Amino acid sequence: MNAPGPKEALALDCDAETFELIHQLEACYGPVVRIEASNHERPVWLLSDPDDIRRILVNQHRNYVKGVGFERVEMLLGNGIIVSDGAFWRRQRTMIQPAFSRGNMPRYFDMIKAVTLRLREQWRALAASGEPLDITTCMSEYALEIILRAIFSNDMERFFGAEEDHPFAFLTEDPTRNLMVAMKFRQLLKRVRALIAHRRETGERPFDLLSMMMDARASRTQEAMSDRELVDEVATMIIAGHETSAGTLNWAWYLMSSHAESRRLLRAESERVCPDGDLHYEQLSELTYTQQVLDETLRLYPPVWLFTRRALADDEIGGFSVAAGDNLFFSPYLVQHLPRFWDAPEAFKPERFSPDAQAPMQAFFPFSQGPRRCIGEFFSYVEMKTHLALMSREFRLRHIDDQPVRLEPAINLRTLHSINMTIEALDP
Ligand code: HEM
Repeated sequence: MNAPGPKEALALDCDAETFELIHQLEACYGPVVRIEASNHERPVWLLSDPDDIRRILVNQHRNYVKGVGFERVEMLLGNGIIVSDGAFWRRQRTMIQPAFSRGNMPRYFDMIKAVTLRLREQWRALAASGEPLDITTCMSEYALEIILRAIFSNDMERFFGAEEDHPFAFLTEDPTRNLMVAMKFRQLLKRVRALIAHRRETGERPFDLLSMMMDARASRTQEAMSDRELVDEVATMIIAGHETSAGTLNWAWYLMSSHAESRRLLRAESERVCPDGDLHYEQLSELTYTQQVLDETLRLYPPVWLFTRRALADDEIGGFSVAAGDNLFFSPYLVQHLPRFWDAPEAFKPERFSPDAQAPMQAFFPFSQGPRRCIGEFFSYVEMKTHLALMSREFRLRHIDDQPVRLEPAINLRTLHSINMTIEALDP
């Protein structure tokens, strides 16, 4: 049977045109669409049925490798675990996974809380002065500092300079990830090599991701990672670990600025769970409404709005034959906005994720699914919940511009322009 799809060839990529196209294609042809791609050698399959997506990412994952778009990411990240495949990916993932164990989270939490409290001081000053805040850049700097401290702990200052003007800061100033940025970033990673050499020489192992990755051993061979491998994984953590959380918090503040009831509930929850304002790690699991706000933000604006795979061998999807080498596109954005799963999909309704509302979780996958599901998912919730719990009880942010914020779907789903806010300190 011929798969449904347009007769003409179309160009599909991680870009704004594709963002528009996928909605039209799904509306015209349904949950399995086959597209002759003018910019790829092999056809593209756009899949939006949660069962098909799950089958590929979970059950049949061995038959699929990373696809279109990842070659561009490779310039930046080398062969880190976002990009790598097969036995090498499995080895790296197994070595890195323990660093993200639940047992380690309280220590990351202490660092995240300290960074958040410093930001709170800055916001107090801004609220007093009435000066506006570019929340997009602010969240980018905040999430970057957190991931850099998670990787390098106090060697961050020792090796990379003072907090405000560390050399990775350009990543927040220039959100494009073009060749120039990639080259500058890779250049900077030489300093990571120097830090690795220093730690090897001195035996210093502070509590951080780098130490854990240096000490990790492959289960079969007992080999450690080479310097090159470590550098690629550090690069991967820096990029994957900051743009996504930063984007989500940016959107969360934007949504909060126009949803008074959610703002009230968020604040009330923080005050109830942590009456003295001194948040503890154990309290994070009680922040259920905060979690719903984050999930609804990730539903509306999943930072990874599109990801791809390539088939290694022929397969059948939804009754149609997919050939080895074909490209598969999955879009959390598309599926998470489909009215057949989500009532009033464009509306911001955190209560959809309350336990008794029974959200269609099969149609919610902002962190992907299966063995390649995001390794930093839990970490990012610790970060984002800590941030919202500590900040939303004290500040109200108001969007300054009247015009709606526009989306920029590139590798990540960002706001086209920075969002400017005024900060108001709430009465205690
Ligand atoms: C809101 C926050 C985040 C979102 C929405 C997100 C989303 C995703 C998605 C969708 C993937 C899978 C991509 C694919 O299969 O092609 C992924 C993978 C990954 N993420 Fe995240 N991420 C977030 C935060 C983080 C953080 C904080 C870190 C690091 C601390 C991180 C590190 C990674 C890594 C290393 C991978 C590759 C995993 C593998 O292939 O084994 N992410 N993420």
